[in-house]
Amino acid sequence: MYLTEEQVFGLLKTYGSPLYVYDKSTIVERCQQLSIFAKRLSDAVDRAVHMHYSTKANSNVEILRLIKSNGIWADCMSPKELKLDLKAGFSPKELLYVCNNIREEEMDLVKSKDVLICLDSVSQVETWAHKSHGTKIMVRINPGTVGVGHSHKVITSGPDTKFGISEANLPQLLQLADLYSLEIVGAHQHLGSLFLNDKIDHYVAGVSAFLDIIKRNFKNLSIVDLGGGFGVPYAPEEEPLNFDILYRKLVPVLKNFVEEYPSVKEFKFEPGRFIPCEAGLLLGTVTSIKEEFDTRWIGTDIGMGTLVRPSMYGSYHKIEVIERDPSGIMVQANICGNVCESGDILGKRRIVDCPTVNDAVVVHNAGAYGYSMSSNYTGRPRPAEVMMTEKDCCRLIRPAQSLDDF
Ligand SMILES: Cc1ncc(COP(=O)(O)O)c(C=O)c1O
Repeated sequence: MYLTEEQVFGLLKTYGSPLYVYDKSTIVERCQQLSIFAKRLSDAVDRAVHMHYSTKANSNVEILRLIKSNGIWADCMSPKELKLDLKAGFSPKELLYVCNNIREEEMDLVKSKDVLICLDSVSQVETWAHKSHGTKIMVRINPGTVGVGHSHKVITSGPDTKFGISEANLPQLLQLADLYSLEIVGAHQHLGSLFLNDKIDHYVAGVSAFLDIIKRNFKNLSIVDLGGGFGVPYAPEEEPLNFDILYRKLVPVLKNFVEEYPSVKEFKFEPGRFIPCEAGLLLGTVTSIKEEFDTRWIGTDIGMGTLVRPSMYGSYHKIEVIERDPSGIMVQANICGNVCESGDILGKRRIVDCPTVNDAVVVHNAGAYGYSMSSNYTGRPRPAEVMMTEKDCCRLIRPAQSLDDF
């Protein structure tokens, strides 16, 4: 999305700073891209293919409604996400509850809503089974091979991660399922968050390892869920994920599987980031400029409570300075937030326009894991969210918190 200088300052004036801004048409385009990919895969392997948007990436209910209206289903992983998905209009059949180490009360809630649950350990299956004889469940498998992701914190398969059931523990799972007449209808894996073209082979190898485990251990699954992870480019040198290449590499593996394992009726994917990420900008204000020990620092009101990815994962986001009075001068600076931690840095050694206080900053690719990971750390209210629509109109889709909200 491109905003003019006038729009940036106008939006900040109207809705306050900082501010999340989303572009409706980009979200719609990404949903369409995924739907086309799903349709091509479905035609190639002669099975249903469903995309479930992973609510954790951005759970604004207006965005959920938009995604639903574009034919995508959803997955959720907490009571609040479940409530929001239902509010947005997803039917229980269009939802999947993919959870990790949850309490029994939470299981009761999922059951009461009639949403299929995907459980992540033999111990969780046992807790579920006590009250839920004869129900259908899915289980999450950890294939043991190291997954893919932009940081070790979001690689979610392999021997060092907390997720899923390894092949060694499947006999125990199957015995338990037998004992409580549980019907295991599907298997799930999520290798990690964010792979691009250089990791397609790695991703497909992880899928193959998972499918081999299914063939060796389960008789009649009808659902195979391959998780999320579809990446978007953040850094200038990165290229968008090439769905043609992914399709070409995935189809033979899935075709083979379907031939050897005909009971499978449906493949699922759980893309999160891919849909809202590039639709989102985070706008903020320059609050201070200083040069200390030969380093120029641009202070802003975008702290780690507003966007945590750079400090949490060391993630790169493109950052622009928008001057009220263009100086034509570029500077190198570290751009940081307003929280009392040395890690509260948005970007280091960035070349940007030379700002003065009250100029604006624009952080790109902030639509996924931006607002949804924001916090009230150090007591700062969360910002507002607005949606730019087709006619360059702008609609408030969540007001900023105020101190009175605490
Ligand atoms: C189980 C599960 N599914 C899907 C996703 C979505 O991942 P991504 O946003 O990378 O597509 C995640 C995110 O980590 C996840 O944990």
